[in-house]
Amino acid sequence: MKGGPLKVAVLISGGGSNLQALIDNFGPLFPNSPVRIVKVISNRPDAGGIERAKKVGIPSVVIDHKAFPDRVAFDAQLDRAIHESGAELVVLAGFMRLLTEGFVNTWRNRLINIHPALLPSFRGLDTHKRALKRGVKLHGATVHFVRQETDTGPIIAQAAVPVLADDTPETLATRVLKAEHKLYPLALRLIAEGKVKLDGERAMVDGKPDPLAFFSPALAS
Ligand code: GRF
Repeated sequence: MKGGPLKVAVLISGGGSNLQALIDNFGPLFPNSPVRIVKVISNRPDAGGIERAKKVGIPSVVIDHKAFPDRVAFDAQLDRAIHESGAELVVLAGFMRLLTEGFVNTWRNRLINIHPALLPSFRGLDTHKRALKRGVKLHGATVHFVRQETDTGPIIAQAAVPVLADDTPETLATRVLKAEHKLYPLALRLIAEGKVKLDGERAMVDGKPDPLAFFSPALAS
């Protein structure tokens, strides 16, 4: 850490259970944490995550994308709000808007996302349903730096969970989400501690080429 915690803005669109996991690890209750959440931004006025931020006194704002004529105008406002907050890293946590090339370039290597699949498999939406349909035996979640193409970019960390014979998209989603709540704080901590470096488009953790990876039974221990 270079003189103080890493200041992050968390962008959400929904319930914000990943935001909650970040609050539970790095929120105001942890003044010595390597991460400080300086702002929560939602593009939807009804996002439940906003309440989670308010409850613990983290500044939050709704920037409703419907109030802007196009993506460029919306992203410009997003960018302004993030800069004003002093955030050094942007953390997408269930943020359901495609970002423009300009925004992604401005925040290149300072913009991370969590995706509910083992990338590069199952980019896009409905990952759990598609994973079941394809009969994969392992599914999971990925934390990655964001590149222009949706759900691409250097992989920082992955968590795998087993797919069970009687899984439905809902039961599988629940298992993956539980893994996400462990994975995102771990990955963010590594970044805040300066342990994540890029070698080209490959993320190195602690100087090693292996990204952080774990299998869900480890979550129980
Ligand atoms: C998570 O599954 C995340 O991976 C995906 O959207 C979901 C958000 O859930 N991008 P929540 O709002 O954090 O509860």
